[in-house]
Amino acid sequence: MTAADLALLALKARENAYAPYSGFAVGAALLCADGRVFTGANVECASFGMTICAERSALCAAVSAGARCFTAVAVAAKTPPWPCGACRQMLMEFSPDMAVYAVAPEGLPMQARLADLLPHAFTPASL
Ligand code: THU
Repeated sequence: MTAADLALLALKARENAYAPYSGFAVGAALLCADGRVFTGANVECASFGMTICAERSALCAAVSAGARCFTAVAVAAKTPPWPCGACRQMLMEFSPDMAVYAVAPEGLPMQARLADLLPHAFTPASL
């Protein structure tokens, strides 16, 4: 699974976004260390604060299926989206070293290491 493959899966997952309030559709594809890929999309709600981001949709699907170790996540929107703070925190819980790809329909993905996006993080190792 290349970064380009994962980016395509994130773009595909974005097609299922439910974002009638923001109009900002997001898709995510999360690559597990065992090779499985889980996807997710953002799901909004008339009670706005209940919104679930695409990354956490994918993460909850993966963890619910038993996955605990991740090597990369691709996140796709109309402009390359870096994960929000809540999603960075949730992803850090499992795999601080994972690669994060910010993807848009046009252009090359941008890449960062998750731990660099959330320095001095509070993690399970902090307890
Ligand atoms: N969103 C995501 O799905 N992922 C992020 O990392 C940032 C924001 C969603 C939440 C909301 O549905 C929309 O984008 C606008 O904030």
